[in-house]
Amino acid sequence: MKSIILVGFMGCGKSTLGKKLAKKLNVPFLDSDHEIEASAGLSVSQIFEKHGETYFRNLEREFLMKLNPNDNFVLSTGGGMPCLNENMNRLNELGAVLYLKLSPQELTKRLLAAKKTKRPLIEGKTAEDLQLFIAERLEARNQFYLQAPFILKGKEQNVKHILEILS
Ligand code: S3P
Repeated sequence: MKSIILVGFMGCGKSTLGKKLAKKLNVPFLDSDHEIEASAGLSVSQIFEKHGETYFRNLEREFLMKLNPNDNFVLSTGGGMPCLNENMNRLNELGAVLYLKLSPQELTKRLLAAKKTKRPLIEGKTAEDLQLFIAERLEARNQFYLQAPFILKGKEQNVKHILEILS
């Protein structure tokens, strides 16, 4: 089976599902945020704070370009990665790209329940601001996410379904 790449907005569950898939397939699991944090020696929030978002986006691009299309892995991407620098083309070269599609309402609910300090773009937002931010960003980002050949709704976002559609 080809490598599997999960894309989607913050909070859609890419890392949780990615880990399960990798375990089931017995291949390495890569999380772009974690890989970047490990090589920079800083958290994503610290990178944004110290160097700014553009610098982080360059690190995302560098990370993607270093991956080998012949390797087999499951990759969970940062929510903004597919939307910049032709990254969606690169992701489609690297493996089967799956978009975990959720509504802005569902994403807001999940992100309100998650630790916001790990995500500099939404840190400190009120519930109302967060909902507005998600609706706007998702609208802008969908054109990129929708370039994924596989688009999965909530109920389809599980290991069994994914293995079925990819087999
Ligand atoms: C971002 C999403 C984050 C992380 C960074 C920026 C985004 O990853 O890459 O905070 O622009 O949507 P997750 O989608 O894993 O939260």
